[in-house]
Amino acid sequence: MSDDLAALKTETEAALVEAADLRAWDAVRVAVLGRNGKLTALLKDLGKTAPEQRRERGAALNVLKDALTQAIEARRADLEAAALEARLAAERLDPSLPPRPRPTGLIHPISRTMEEIAAIFGAMGFAIAEGPDVESDWHNFGALNIPAHHPARADHDTFYLPAQGNEPPRVLRTHTSPVQARAMLTRELPFRVIAVGRTYRADHDATHSPMFHQCEGLVLDRDITLGHLKGCLIDFLRAFFGIAELPVRFRSSYFPFTEPSMEVDIGWDRRSGELGKGSDWLEILGSGMVHPRVLANCGIDPRAWQGFAFGMGVERIAMLKHGVPDLRPFYESDIRWLRHYGFNPLAPTMLHEGV
Ligand code: PHE
Repeated sequence: MSDDLAALKTETEAALVEAADLRAWDAVRVAVLGRNGKLTALLKDLGKTAPEQRRERGAALNVLKDALTQAIEARRADLEAAALEARLAAERLDPSLPPRPRPTGLIHPISRTMEEIAAIFGAMGFAIAEGPDVESDWHNFGALNIPAHHPARADHDTFYLPAQGNEPPRVLRTHTSPVQARAMLTRELPFRVIAVGRTYRADHDATHSPMFHQCEGLVLDRDITLGHLKGCLIDFLRAFFGIAELPVRFRSSYFPFTEPSMEVDIGWDRRSGELGKGSDWLEILGSGMVHPRVLANCGIDPRAWQGFAFGMGVERIAMLKHGVPDLRPFYESDIRWLRHYGFNPLAPTMLHEGV
């Protein structure tokens, strides 16, 4: 091998030893074998060699090229193995380390309660109906037999929206009952629906919030009776509270949109707060047979169709079921409260079998 080739070999081998990582290694490879590499240049120069020496020189260059290629590849394998070793050492698992905390979110008791309500009524063949929070005065009151100046309006502490031109007034719905009107106007009869959602009244203390939730129910068919109403609500209340023998009482009452109307009470012990025990009664929801005028207002012939409706406060039944003493923390987003009263998102909403 001529001197220049021997020198290139020695020099390259030394540079490969020097190259401590793959980046330095690659620089050596490019400097020798790259497009402008030293060996490449020598190969290009072969054409200029005198013809009588060209064969020998060519053979020597090929031997050198094989040797250098091999040396370069061998160094790469070494460096890669070393890099892997280093990573394995650095990334070794330490099973004695405590796991990183992974906080899971919890389902808010209001959401959970609405899911439970939907599951129970769903099993009874009810569909979910919806309506807007910002409602027309007509859907919220007029359609439900509460015309302007009706005394019942005074009970509702209504939030009115600023009037827009000549448009009819709008309100934040004070109950879920306007969804009844919407269902009657759009659904094919017969039907059974519930509507769960937000409602608003200008009222704020330990048991009232300006925003709260209600669940409405409406069943319309050709011959629905008070008996259906009672059976449906007794079944619901016993399933919801998970008390098979929960006492339920129907007490005559008044709502403009039902006739007759009934307040529904459940039995409890006022002192201990225990449901289904003791001899006290607790008012829990409003109900009644849909007023013929409401049916007519919503385009339904009251001589052909009749049914019942009911409405209840979601917070109220959630508080009773889970022993929550104060309404306000429901909306305060206090994580400690939620950790205490929240529900595991992976636990399915169960119907209370056997009730
Ligand atoms: N809308 C009534 C309320 O908010 C409840 C109710 C609904 C009563 C349906 C009877 C029938 O108090």
